[in-house]
Amino acid sequence: MAEPKVNELMEKVVSLCKRRGFVYQSSEIYGGINGFWDYGPLGAELKRNVKDLWWTSMTRRRDDVVGLEATIIMHPQIWRASGHVDTFSDPMADCLLTRKRFRADQIDPQSGTAYHYSGARDAETGKMVAEAYAVLLPAGKPPESARKVATQYYQARGLKQVELEGERTEKVENSQRFNPENGSLLTEPRPFNLMFKTYVGPVADEDNVAYLRPETAQAIFAQFKNVLETSRQKVPFGIAQVGKAFRNEVTPRNFTFRSREFEQMELEFFIPPDEAVEALTGSVAKPAAPGHPGAPQRNWGWQLWHQYWVEERIRFYDSIGLPRTSLEEYWQKPDELAHYARATVDLLFKFPFGTQELEGIAARSDFDLSQHERCSGKSQGVFDEELRTAWGKLDEATRQRLSDSYFQHRQKYLLKAGVPAEQAARDAKEDAEGLAKGQYIPHVIEPSAGVDRLILGLLTNAYSEVTTTDDKGKTETRVILRFHPKVAPIKVGVFPLLKNKPELVAKAREVNELLRAHMMSFYDDAGAIGRRYARQDEAGTPFCVTIDFDTLGETPELKDTVTLRYRDDGRQERMPISALLGFLLERIR
Ligand code: GLY
Repeated sequence: MAEPKVNELMEKVVSLCKRRGFVYQSSEIYGGINGFWDYGPLGAELKRNVKDLWWTSMTRRRDDVVGLEATIIMHPQIWRASGHVDTFSDPMADCLLTRKRFRADQIDPQSGTAYHYSGARDAETGKMVAEAYAVLLPAGKPPESARKVATQYYQARGLKQVELEGERTEKVENSQRFNPENGSLLTEPRPFNLMFKTYVGPVADEDNVAYLRPETAQAIFAQFKNVLETSRQKVPFGIAQVGKAFRNEVTPRNFTFRSREFEQMELEFFIPPDEAVEALTGSVAKPAAPGHPGAPQRNWGWQLWHQYWVEERIRFYDSIGLPRTSLEEYWQKPDELAHYARATVDLLFKFPFGTQELEGIAARSDFDLSQHERCSGKSQGVFDEELRTAWGKLDEATRQRLSDSYFQHRQKYLLKAGVPAEQAARDAKEDAEGLAKGQYIPHVIEPSAGVDRLILGLLTNAYSEVTTTDDKGKTETRVILRFHPKVAPIKVGVFPLLKNKPELVAKAREVNELLRAHMMSFYDDAGAIGRRYARQDEAGTPFCVTIDFDTLGETPELKDTVTLRYRDDGRQERMPISALLGFLLERIR
């Protein structure tokens, strides 16, 4: 499929990214490598800020979330347990003529007349190629176009003077079986596993296969017990991780939106099953109204926890400059849900190339820990003394109802996991008995965000142009990146009014030293002050300070004050140097 023509805004953002050092093509001097991108000096700062803000809001500012930093290569068994070895694939189809590869489900549906051939013969040698082939012609195109493509196909199979055989035509509607670029038939779609494979150790054989992780989530599940035992956390609590993940996308596209190497920010938040919540608190609170449900409560069931995390994540985006109104909530339909999910809300953002997912918030039930328990043979359950006591105080009817419900849930999971029916019934009964003794496998709510697509969202959201006309009628269009100060790569530009006045330079350097200990500041004394402001506007720097003769005391009452300039409206105000740090810190944190 032809890459959809990226619109003008996207072209401008991509060009700005290169020009100002936000994003470069990986390995560019060797022609680049498709699906891989590098972050330049400004991009690296922007990305670091975003990850730090996520980490701070998810872990440091919460009592109930702790962090993890796991390896990228893990035991391959993890990816069997998670389902990635068997099911983490995209349907792929190749053009029979050019070999170009497509995501079969992303091909634009096409209609027209398909020209089928049973094979072809070489008019000179009589050699026959008895391979069926077809070409789709859009309405209005002459049959010769189809015959030309078919001729090329058979020429590639060794015929010189091609005589096509058995031509027949067929009307086709909304088909994804043909290459939209040349009409050629594609191969049948077949699953293509997205995990990058490698070998651990010196012997490259099947016994030593390992995978680059396709998500950070699984390490969190695999370390759940260690974290539980060493962090003094108790369910409900979460484990957060930021890190690289790798997916061998069939068609990486839309700049950094879908890359083969990317970064994730994932939280796995572990909660008790609803049956345990009811036994502990007497009820299971469910969502009653849209919006943020407030501070977590002990009687929340999984649906309320899910709503809570959707709303927390929207608040996060709002706090870094993507307002709620720029996001859409999309509730995945039952047939779209991943194999592990009970419900998933995608937070979508309007990218220039279309409204696309920024983050998915999935309710994953107890699938993950159950899988790791079954596959590793190590218990992943927790014991809750309070639950055991509470269970003992339930009336018989409630006990029976909760026990039955838990039994059914566990049995359903076990059967789906392929456990034979008799054993599934036995194991589920054991699990239900375990619940009565205060044991259960935690359920999970997972907010999973892509760092790189968020960076792209922030860049496209921040991009703006201002056109000014000077006294002589000359117009100039300048770019301003209106980043929220929290994410802006450079927080403050520090300028001496003139470069050739040592006292101004010395004072400006002193102010820069004061600020750079706390934030990314940028000293610049090159060119006219207006050009320096413009350069910082283009980098998205929210504030600039200028040191002038008044700073040095030319106007005595202005001594040790600077001019502070705001990026978004060009407003300027005088501020004492002593107030500068506090003013800036308040706005960038
Ligand atoms: N852990 C979910 C994802 O990577 O999409």
